[in-house]
Amino acid sequence: MKKHFQGILMGAAVAVALSGFAGIANSAEKMVYKSGDRSSGYTFTAKETNAMQDDDIANPGFLYVDDGEALWNKVDGKAGKSCATCHGVESALLTDVGTRYPVYNAKLGKMQNLEQKINQERDEKMGAKPYKYESGSMLSLTIYMKNQSRGKPMNVSIDGPVVPFFEAGKKFYNQRRGQLDMSCANCHVDNPGNMIRANLLSQGQPNGFPAYRLKWQKAGSLHRRFRGCNKNIRAKPYGYGSDEYVNLELYISWRARGLPVESPSVRM
Ligand code: HEC
Ligand code: HEC
Repeated sequence: MKKHFQGILMGAAVAVALSGFAGIANSAEKMVYKSGDRSSGYTFTAKETNAMQDDDIANPGFLYVDDGEALWNKVDGKAGKSCATCHGVESALLTDVGTRYPVYNAKLGKMQNLEQKINQERDEKMGAKPYKYESGSMLSLTIYMKNQSRGKPMNVSIDGPVVPFFEAGKKFYNQRRGQLDMSCANCHVDNPGNMIRANLLSQGQPNGFPAYRLKWQKAGSLHRRFRGCNKNIRAKPYGYGSDEYVNLELYISWRARGLPVESPSVRM
């Protein structure tokens, strides 16, 4: 009985690995950038920029995917382990991990996003130093892990203990702030498709993050994008990984439900 059970597990793992190799979960081809009334930023982006995103060789975000894969396999810290030591050769073996975060962490009593989970694993399982939030290493490992869920639908849970955090994120999203006295919703719910200065407003969906931004000439986290949007209306930006931003991330990840994970997307 036990042996049979193990056989099934092995079979499942091999199937996942093979689907990765065949590029089924992982290919930019045949991605559908809409779900219900939700549209990815891709559909508001110039064709040339989309073409860059679609071509894994031209997409500058793929340098981070490669670096992230190397970090996944790199032994670091006092325990002499890598992520791969416990989780196997590719992070796709962690089922749909790129679609489900932020998740509720019972030990912390609050939400935790993927960047924070990576640092928790480094600390508790490897005895390794945390990565700085916006560092190349953190961006690379996060992009690599999200990319392994590319094409899969965004699917955060908002039930049970998550409810108050979801409500806090929703409130933040709809609250007017800054000298311009605007909420996220004023731009990304009321005005997608309209121009604001030189920019075409999208629905402000998070499914392409971390994203490669041509303006930044590098990849950046979703929280960096939040800070930019807060600063544009002369509102106080919150810290990377702050509770406010993690709850906001939860809310907009729910808003993006069903949209495909696109990281690393390419944006203006
Ligand atoms: C004054 C208008 C304005 C406000 C207010 C605003 N943003 Fe944005 N946001 C933009 C512009 C312009 C862009 C770049 C073009 C686009 O994707 O809409 C952008 C982009 C984004 C993106 C990237 C979308 C993509 O596909 O690349 C996200 C995510 C986002 N905003 C979230 C937010 C959140 C969350 C808030 C509230 C904290 C917010 N924005 C407030 C104007 C705004
Ligand atoms: C010593 C073994 C070990 C190492 C090393 C390790 N992990 Fe884990 N990891 C686990 C175990 C066991 C769990 C399940 C229990 C938990 O969440 O702590 C887990 C859970 C996770 C989860 C949550 C999965 C989910 O379904 O939500 C993620 C994400 C993760 N690990 C990523 C990593 C990354 C990234 C690294 C390397 C930086 C890493 N782990 C290193 C053992 C390990």
